[in-house]
Amino acid sequence: MNICVVGVGYVGLVTGAVFADLGNDVICVDIDEAKIENLNKGIMPIFEPGLKEMVVHNKKDGRLSFTTNLKSGVRESDIIFIGVNTPPKDNGETDLSFVQSVAMGIAEWIDDYKIVVNKSTVPVGTGDLVREIIETNKRKDVDFDVVSNPEFLREGSAIKDTLMPDRIVIGAPSKNVAMKLLELYAVLERPMIITDVHSAEIIKYASNAFLATKISFINMISDLCELANADVNQVAKGMGTDARIGGLFLQPGLGYGGSCFPKDSSSLAHTVRKVGGDSTLLDAVMSINAKRSSQILKKIEKQFASLDGKVFAMLGLAFKPNTDDIRDAKSLEIIESLLKQKAKVRAYDPAAMDKVKKIYPDIVYCQNAYEATEGADAMLLITEWNEFRLLNFEKVLSLMRTPIVFDGRNIYSVRRMKGLGFEYYGMGIGTGE
Ligand code: UGA
Repeated sequence: MNICVVGVGYVGLVTGAVFADLGNDVICVDIDEAKIENLNKGIMPIFEPGLKEMVVHNKKDGRLSFTTNLKSGVRESDIIFIGVNTPPKDNGETDLSFVQSVAMGIAEWIDDYKIVVNKSTVPVGTGDLVREIIETNKRKDVDFDVVSNPEFLREGSAIKDTLMPDRIVIGAPSKNVAMKLLELYAVLERPMIITDVHSAEIIKYASNAFLATKISFINMISDLCELANADVNQVAKGMGTDARIGGLFLQPGLGYGGSCFPKDSSSLAHTVRKVGGDSTLLDAVMSINAKRSSQILKKIEKQFASLDGKVFAMLGLAFKPNTDDIRDAKSLEIIESLLKQKAKVRAYDPAAMDKVKKIYPDIVYCQNAYEATEGADAMLLITEWNEFRLLNFEKVLSLMRTPIVFDGRNIYSVRRMKGLGFEYYGMGIGTGE
């Protein structure tokens, strides 16, 4: 099929690359000339395992191209995917200006029947808005349809998630239109759910907000475990084995960050209130998450009389492993507080250091985890990259000034760490006293 994907951010670029890899002819369009120029040279705007190889290979084979020319993208395609970003406004509402401007562009160039597919995360009713913009502004009297096809890929496993999604949701205005999308996705052989447009739009937000709720729920239980002298890891395991609950997204710790859960929970709460509903549950989820960094900071502050001059080895800066994304990363809140209290930070992250350097140029950036722990008064595990799981702790012990570990993601075993001679503080683990 001939496909146009507008927006080469996370969703757009990965979608375009995967569609091309499946044999479609894909034109990716973006207004950012530098990004397009770089992509044409094989330079990716994001760090995502397997993406570069897929882009370079499909571009070479002529199935994937990058341009700033929306006209050719629209005219040469049967299906146009909108994958531009939808940032939050200050009040939590979603800023739809990029989606609106793409819709205006489509209206300008549409010259034949097209299916316009919203892949960006957009509040319920946006499909109607896109339809209205194109309808009112189209220059030629042609027909078109608007579909909602939300994306569920995760950063760090975006290619795999796109090739093997748990489900594909297609919110279409009619069976015929849905069939066109089914045809495109059939090759993946994954479960497909056909809905109306509004329901598909809500499925995306409801899914992200539900996962955020699971995380805040287990973090609330985590705080209870600390107060009641229990172990949240055991509690999560005990809960998660109930098939109705499920063990995924019950990992306690510093809570969620990134570009999706924070903004989507807040946008959903805004939508709920806008239509006259009650957002209490979502508000509680967000409030619990906002306090996660202070939970670990409280433990640190309790340990030291003053943080002035104390050295902290910070392992992990990205909002989660396998990405260089630091949007709403807990590391930033923690660095900010440590620096305010005149502490020194020695940080290491396999991918995200360049981005953090732009915000905090004056902390020490290290080559690896061991260098970060040199002379440290405590080690803080912030992002659970695999390479931190099996560190040589005898070596770490010999490098640190005082062997204290604050584990923000509970990746180490209390017993093992204590056995090795560390003073260990996880999240949601009672002292046993
Ligand atoms: C999330 C969803 O998982 C995707 O399905 C969705 O497509 C995407 O948002 C989006 O809307 O674009 P992502 O933000 O890449 O994906 O990351 P996740 O792997 O879901 O993790 C989100 C945050 O939750 C991370 O900060 C992670 O550390 C935290 N988390 C996750 C926990 O604190 N505990 C857990 O048990 C799981």
